[in-house]
Amino acid sequence: MPLVNTRKMFEEALKGGFAIGAFNVNNMELLQGIMWAAKDRQAPLILQISRGARKYANMRYLRGLIDVALAENPEIPVAIHLDHGDFETAIACIDEGFTSVMYDGSHDPIEKNIADTKKICEHAHAHDPYVTVEAELGMLGGIEEDVVGVSHDDVEKFLTDPDDAERFVKETECDSLAVAIGTSHGAYKFKTEPKLAFDRVEQIAARLPGFPLVMHGSSSVPREFIEKINSYAVLESGNKDMLEAALKDGWAQMPNTMGVPEEAIGKAAKMAVCKVNIDTDLRLALTSSILKAWGDCNSNLLAWIKAGKEGKRPDFDFDPRKYLGPGREAVKEMVARKMDILGVAGKASLFA
Ligand code: G3H
Ligand code: 13P
Ligand code: ZN
Repeated sequence: MPLVNTRKMFEEALKGGFAIGAFNVNNMELLQGIMWAAKDRQAPLILQISRGARKYANMRYLRGLIDVALAENPEIPVAIHLDHGDFETAIACIDEGFTSVMYDGSHDPIEKNIADTKKICEHAHAHDPYVTVEAELGMLGGIEEDVVGVSHDDVEKFLTDPDDAERFVKETECDSLAVAIGTSHGAYKFKTEPKLAFDRVEQIAARLPGFPLVMHGSSSVPREFIEKINSYAVLESGNKDMLEAALKDGWAQMPNTMGVPEEAIGKAAKMAVCKVNIDTDLRLALTSSILKAWGDCNSNLLAWIKAGKEGKRPDFDFDPRKYLGPGREAVKEMVARKMDILGVAGKASLFA
């Protein structure tokens, strides 16, 4: 199946009470993990690419990998989407063949956000084939690209205003809207369990019936992954000071923070939220597995030295495939888990 935009995805999601997972891609292992999960769950999905990912990987490499992924999985509907685009990058991606773009003017005053989003929509909608546009109104906590979001104490103040949302969508003619309902980007979201503003979702949906909403900052930061990283990271660093500090602190390197509970994501998916963005949890899955694989590798070190001394062939394995392989398996498991929560498993057949 060729790449699709998000229009039918969101129509089906609204009708069926599920949401499409949007997963960030930066390299081959992330892409393969994501696509293997989509194949396993027979789920449509959005591959999203940030400006940082474009810079890191070079878009031509990413696009080449995505084309192979499409050819390998012809039954899976896939959209290629720009995450948190600025004006220039959004225009470039529309012209480059992205099927969907986000223009993020949420840090600007509303009048400028409306004017710029409208221009992007005009360009995207005149494109053949039609490119869908996601806009953002309201502000999230955490870090988006290089912009630091609102502080935790201010989150409430920057929730999306339902009247503004109605006006924004009508004037810009955007295809979906990312709303601030108390979620936050990154691994360090909340100290205690957050209460998402589901009432805002209901109020916005009442003013914009049948219009798709998007939830950013939706990673759950599962504790077991933080613990896994903490237990391997220090050992791997080889840094004596860090090791001592870690021992004193009970190994805590990454603080125990809380993400968006998975039940909350499931609940949002049954409402007007049609797209749920997840990046941090994939990073946690990939990194913790790599650290574990290195740990397993290094625990062979003594045996390796001994074998070397005895003139035998060393079995210390520094082959990158030995740690990137488990990393992409962990990404696959994480994405499959999210697809189950979002209720999107088995929905690829709606696009046949
Ligand atoms: O919200 C931002 C996404 O997690 C992308 O992050 O800019 O580091 O690629 P990035
Ligand atoms: P997380 O940092 O919670 O994964 O959110 C990702 C995101 O919103 C990308 O746009
Ligand atoms: Zn985001």
